Amino acid sequence: MSRFWSQIVHELSPYVAGEQPKFGNLIKLNTNENPYGPSPLVLKAIAAETTDSLRLYPDPTALQLRATIARSYGLDESNVFVGNGSDEVLAHTFQALLKHDAPLLFPDITYSFYPTYCRLYGIDFDEIALDDIMSVRTSDYRRNCGAIILPNPNAPTGTALPLSEIEKLLIEHPDQVVVIDEAYVDFGAESAIPLVRNYPNLLVVQTLSKSRGLAGLRVGFAVGESSLIEALNRVKDSFNSYPLDRLAIVGAIAAWQDTVWFEESRNNIMATRNRLALSMRGLGFEVLPSSANFLFVHHPACSAKEIFTQLRTKAILVRHLPGERTNDYLRISIGTDSECAKLISALQTILGS
Ligand SMILES: Cc1ncc(COP(=O)(O)O)c(C=O)c1O
Repeated sequence: MSRFWSQIVHELSPYVAGEQPKFGNLIKLNTNENPYGPSPLVLKAIAAETTDSLRLYPDPTALQLRATIARSYGLDESNVFVGNGSDEVLAHTFQALLKHDAPLLFPDITYSFYPTYCRLYGIDFDEIALDDIMSVRTSDYRRNCGAIILPNPNAPTGTALPLSEIEKLLIEHPDQVVVIDEAYVDFGAESAIPLVRNYPNLLVVQTLSKSRGLAGLRVGFAVGESSLIEALNRVKDSFNSYPLDRLAIVGAIAAWQDTVWFEESRNNIMATRNRLALSMRGLGFEVLPSSANFLFVHHPACSAKEIFTQLRTKAILVRHLPGERTNDYLRISIGTDSECAKLISALQTILGS
C-alpha cells in the first residue's frame, strides 16, 4: 500500500501465476508447459535474426506472422491479431469487446485471469456454475448478457465441448461476442476457427505456449471477423505498438511452419496423458476426462493439499488451486514419460504411507 497508488491499484487483486522456482532437478508439472520444447527450426530462426537488425524496431503489425497463420486457415491477415502471449490478446479482448452494459458470462471454475481482467477494466460479470460432472452446460448461458468467454478445453478441468455446442452458443447469442479461448485445443478438442467465416460474433484465441512449446517466447493470437480484429488493433495501438519483438516474430513463423514437430509433440503428450490417467485411476484417483496437456484429479482418501505438499518435498511441483470447488483437486501438467513415471512412484509412496 502506498499513498502514491491510484485508486484502481488499491482495488486490484492480481492473477497469481504458477511458481517458477530456480532450484534444479525439479519435475515441473505446475504450469502446463510443453516438456519437449520448441522445434529446432525455431531456435535456428531466432539465431539467424540475432544480428545487428535488433537495433531496428520490429514490424508493428507482424504482418508476415499474421499472414502465415491466416493462410493456414484459408483466411485473410485482416482476420488475425497477434500479441505478447494469449494473455495480452485476452487482455485487449476484454477491454475492446467484452465490456458492455449487461454482464460478461464465464464458468465459475475457469481461467482465473478472467475475473482479474474484469476488475482491471471495470467489467461486470456473472460466473456460471459448471454442472455436477464439472462440465460447461451451454444451456445455462441462455440469459441476459453482454458477451461470453469460455476456454475450450476448459482450464483447469481439461474437459472440452464439441463444436456443435459452441455453434449453438453462437446461434443463440447473435448480438453478443462469444470468445473461445483455445489455449489447449491442440491436445484433443475441436477448434472453432472454421466457424469464423459464418459467425461475425466469434473470436477464437490461441497460443504458441503449449502445443508449440514456446511459453518463454510469448506469442498468442486471435482469429475473427475483421471488425473484431480492428477493435483489438485499436486497443493495441493505444497501449504498445510493438508487442512482438523481432525474435518472437521469426520464431513463431518457424514454429507454425514446422507441422511435423508440432504433430509429434502433441501426439506424444496426448499418449502420455492417457497412460498417466490410467495409472492415476489405478491409484484410486478420480480423473476428469482431459482434452488438454494436464489432468485435473481428486483422491477420495487423501487431501489435495497434503499430496501437493508431499510431492513438493520430493521436488515434484503440481498445481493446487485453492477455492471452494477446486480445493479438493490437483492440476497436473503432462511431462515426459520418465517424469510421469517418477510422479506415479512418488504418489505410490505418499498414498501408501
Ligand atoms: C485458458 C488459458 N488461456 C490463456 C493462457 C495464457 O497463455 P499465454 O499467455 O502463455 O499464451 C493460459 C495459460 O496458462 C490458459 O490456461
